[in-house]
Amino acid sequence: MAMPLAFPPLFFIIIFFLSLSVSSAKFSATPGVNYGQLGNNLPPPLKSLKLIKSLNAKRVKLYDANPQILQSLQHTNLQVSIMVPNEIIANISSNQTLSDQWIQTNVLPFYPHTLIRYLLVGNEVISSTRPEIWPQLVPAMRRIKRSLKTLGIRKVKVGTSSAMDVLESSYPPSNGTFRGDISGRVMRPMLEFLNRTKSFFFLDVYPYFPWSSDSTNIDLDYALFESKNVTVTDPGTGLVYHNLFDQMVDAVYFAMKRIGFPDVRIFIAETGWPNAGDIDQIGANIYNAATYNRNFVKKVTAKPPVGTPARPGSILPSFIFALFNENQKPGPGTERHFGLLYPNGSKVYEIDLSGKTPESEFKALPAPENNRPYKGRIWCVVAKGVNKTAVAGALTYACSQGNKTCDAVQPGKRCFKPDSLVWHASYAFSSYWAQMRPAGATCFFNGLATQTTKNPSYGSCKFPSVTL
Ligand SMILES: *[C@@H]1O[C@H](CO)[C@@H](O)[C@H](O)[C@H]1NC(C)=O
Ligand SMILES: *[C@@H]1O[C@H](CO)[C@@H](O)[C@H](O)[C@H]1NC(C)=O
Ligand SMILES: *[C@@H]1O[C@H](CO)[C@@H](O)[C@H](O)[C@H]1NC(C)=O
Ligand SMILES: *[C@@H]1O[C@H](CO)[C@@H](O)[C@H](O)[C@H]1NC(C)=O
Ligand SMILES: *[C@@H]1O[C@H](CO)[C@@H](O)[C@H](O)[C@H]1NC(C)=O
Ligand SMILES: *[C@@H]1O[C@H](CO)[C@@H](O)[C@H](O)[C@H]1NC(C)=O
Ligand SMILES: *[C@@H]1O[C@H](CO)[C@@H](O)[C@H](O)[C@H]1NC(C)=O
Ligand SMILES: *[C@@H]1O[C@H](CO)[C@@H](O)[C@H](O)[C@H]1NC(C)=O
Repeated sequence: MAMPLAFPPLFFIIIFFLSLSVSSAKFSATPGVNYGQLGNNLPPPLKSLKLIKSLNAKRVKLYDANPQILQSLQHTNLQVSIMVPNEIIANISSNQTLSDQWIQTNVLPFYPHTLIRYLLVGNEVISSTRPEIWPQLVPAMRRIKRSLKTLGIRKVKVGTSSAMDVLESSYPPSNGTFRGDISGRVMRPMLEFLNRTKSFFFLDVYPYFPWSSDSTNIDLDYALFESKNVTVTDPGTGLVYHNLFDQMVDAVYFAMKRIGFPDVRIFIAETGWPNAGDIDQIGANIYNAATYNRNFVKKVTAKPPVGTPARPGSILPSFIFALFNENQKPGPGTERHFGLLYPNGSKVYEIDLSGKTPESEFKALPAPENNRPYKGRIWCVVAKGVNKTAVAGALTYACSQGNKTCDAVQPGKRCFKPDSLVWHASYAFSSYWAQMRPAGATCFFNGLATQTTKNPSYGSCKFPSVTL
């Protein structure tokens, strides 16, 4: 079914001239912010937009195309990135009508008054969907691009976000190589598309992760853009690196170059540093988060632009992750603490995304207390003030996992008394986590559980623990 199009010719002419002027204009180096919404305590859109502006963000990235937010963004000067959810990529890849419909429903009602400029087809699709979906990604991107063209929308760049795990090798940067299972069948057609449409390779870059998993060998200052004397020289190119971020970005650049696309621009779709985390997580604190993000802003807003060693002088457009701490994100504690703001809207630390506030005007930061790994025992217990019905459900779940997880809380066994839900659940959470942590399990249970260094054992009842 063809879409009826009824635009007056004048509209096309205006769009034509606008797109001419835009394509020749420099785009802004001022970072934007990722407006994730996986929290049950976040302010409504209008309030959130005020907060985004108070950070002096230039752009905002959504993980969907929330109509309320897109409506609120009308007539603001914030550039907007929206997203096609991963779940419909497969269907869109094989159905132009569906693609057209998606654009008609999610873009057309708000464009051009909302400055939608980027449309990401999926979020870290390679990292978070089944391999069957991967070959459908680029066909879906092509269909979305075609729909935009059909509807006369020319200012929107189509892309998709990738995490560093699209690489099989990233060290030294000049050895950067896409994974063998996706290089030819996903990355090559994707880069062909991005190059042809003059779009960007949208990359999520978190120096926090490689640093935190190897903090003895990687210098923290090098990860925080603070290194004065630590540099890494790439023996393949002789390029000298002063921070981990540049190293990661250039690894992707060299991977693109390796398969023949040296000119596709990189757009930092996400970067950031957690302001808090679990006891067993290192270096997640306000001091490091402020240092990383402030230095990142300083780097990307420098004039003239600094780029990276492999692309000196290039502008690196970006979005910082994230606007808010999001209390409903699963996984380890850091996942829920990447925000520049608390859900109540107050800043976790002072930051000005325009880069115009000198560091000396910021208040002193709290000293970091967890820049070295925690050594000792940790237990996983029921968090304060949580829903008891939900705890009962989690208790049943924890007891169904692992081996003999809840034997000790059965009637007559040594941890049965005191016979209370919270006591039994705390035992079950500790027992579950002690067994399953090596396989990647976290102490979270949808927010019902929390880590503690205070041994909850009582009398002859010994709670299992994780020992670091
Ligand atoms: C995709 O299409 C199939 C077949 O038309 C349909 O059954 C399914 O519900 C669709 N999936 C989504 C996520 O829309
Ligand atoms: C394509 O999508 C349209 C709109 O959702 C739907 O009506 C149609 O059945 C789909 N076609 C196929 C072949 O699934
Ligand atoms: C370069 O990458 C390959 C895999 O692509 C890897 O096997 C090799 O160890 C890397 N070289 C260095 C020096 O790390
Ligand atoms: C990338 O695009 C440029 C400019 O449009 C073109 O000259 C070049 O051939 C393209 N590269 C590849 C590998 O397709
Ligand atoms: C870098 O300088 C710091 C502070 O002066 C020092 O503690 C550290 O050992 C130096 N590191 C290297 C690799 O020289
Ligand atoms: C906002 O929340 C943070 C963290 O819970 C708290 O420290 C701060 O005092 C709150 N600010 C206001 C204005 O309520
Ligand atoms: C408590 O949790 C149960 C089960 O998950 C849920 O049905 C109920 O709505 C929750 N109660 C409150 C007050 O949130
Ligand atoms: C449970 O026991 C089985 C058999 O002894 C073993 O293969 C499995 O790894 C154990 N599971 C855990 C979580 O320890």
